[in-house]
Amino acid sequence: MSVLPPTVPGEQAPVYLNFIGGKWRAARSGETFASTNPANTQEIIGLYPKSSPADLEDAIDAAVKAQPGWAATPAPERGEILLRTALLLEQRKEELATLMTREMGKILRETRGDVQIAIDVAKYMAGEGRRAEGHTYPSASPNKFDMTVRQPLGIVGIITPWNFPIAIPAWKTFPALLAGNAVILKPASDTPLLSLKLAEIMQEAGLPDGALNVITGPGGSLGDALASNKRVNMISLTGSTEVGRRVAELCGRDLRRCSLELGGKNAVIVLADADLSAAVENVTLGAFGTTGQRCTATSRVIVQRPVLNEFVERLAAAAQKLIIGNGLNPSVEMGPLVNMGRQQAVHEYTQVGRQEGAQLVTGGEPLTEGEYRNGAFYRPTIFTEVTPGMRIAREEVFGPFVSVIPVDSYEQAVQVANSTEYGLSTSIFTEDVRIAFRAVRDIESGLVYINAGTTGSEIHLPFGGMKSSGNGHRELGSVAVEEFSETKSIYVLYPPRKA
Ligand code: UN1
Repeated sequence: MSVLPPTVPGEQAPVYLNFIGGKWRAARSGETFASTNPANTQEIIGLYPKSSPADLEDAIDAAVKAQPGWAATPAPERGEILLRTALLLEQRKEELATLMTREMGKILRETRGDVQIAIDVAKYMAGEGRRAEGHTYPSASPNKFDMTVRQPLGIVGIITPWNFPIAIPAWKTFPALLAGNAVILKPASDTPLLSLKLAEIMQEAGLPDGALNVITGPGGSLGDALASNKRVNMISLTGSTEVGRRVAELCGRDLRRCSLELGGKNAVIVLADADLSAAVENVTLGAFGTTGQRCTATSRVIVQRPVLNEFVERLAAAAQKLIIGNGLNPSVEMGPLVNMGRQQAVHEYTQVGRQEGAQLVTGGEPLTEGEYRNGAFYRPTIFTEVTPGMRIAREEVFGPFVSVIPVDSYEQAVQVANSTEYGLSTSIFTEDVRIAFRAVRDIESGLVYINAGTTGSEIHLPFGGMKSSGNGHRELGSVAVEEFSETKSIYVLYPPRKA
């Protein structure tokens, strides 16, 4: 078990350790940091190693040592370990979901979904162990055979955010391992626990020591050290566009591969012919589900004027009805933000919206009384009469906050939808199949939904964004294995021997 007795006498919180070379270890400095429950910040969830670049070197040493043996393990056998991981995750789903709600805040239904993504990806990638295929090609010459094979990159560094505490670590780690790489995983400091649990489970599933190493600590210094380390062949990051630029720069210096999944300013377009009930329901879910903290969250709604008033009224009614509270309570529909800093940041956007002259429909304030006293709660917030140039129409808020932008036509709607620097997920509600297919063509984003919200992608399809939402890579599905592999082209000549 990864839990040690508390270091400080009387301390209530468990003290967790890094996972390096199959062993649980404290940071060399012995320093720790705490993560707290965002529904009640008085409650400490755990103390974690405050790792330094020296600890990172230890993790890289372990990975370098393990990688050749892991790469030599047949891919179907690597897949078997993922299948056993899936089964263990299934057995422990409820326990993991509960820990996640306590550490991250989102409601149990969502944390169960988060674990389920990890289970699904593990099963999918287990199957890839028997596919991990290359291709054969017809050669342009006689007596010649052309083919490709995929080989591991070596050491992969994975940096993950706090909004999907096990799903994102899993959907990066599983294909990276399946492809024969050794992994250093650096989870977000708000939510390290589920990554450590993942390591514990994978060890139980039979993963050899050193194939997966997890170290916790400050994003800035540790992330920089990981991204700039020449022994790390690739970085896979999900995070903000700002951090993505930094990581790309560090990797770019040595031309090392990096795969970036970054911000969004995702829009739902609601045309006058739309099924308004479906649109309201999906925008409510997309904007306020996970308390708006998804990179695919609905952050703008672009509404055709004839249905504007009715849409806004119905959306406001749905937002006001949401039951807000501690995500462990089964009747709660929206949990807190991940920490008090996020609550402050979202509230600043409310001030910005007001100053810019947008109209606040509902929300716009933190919840601070009674059961909300020590939590990072914020009311679901809707601004209308937002114009495309306003900051609240362009910048990622990452909270329960949505900007309604009125438009006159489909053409204007698409132009507005495409007018931000981001391009992750966009949806359109219309009953007109011709408009729907034009939208599929016209919308600049990696994910396009017709008559569905901006969230809820499935794990066997490629996932990722255009423009500043990423750097062109796609995650999940079979492309994920390619992402973590080198492709080698092979030419075999077999002409008759010249006597
Ligand atoms: C994210 O917000 O970082 O489509 C990922 C969705 C989820 C993934 C979201 N399957 O909303």
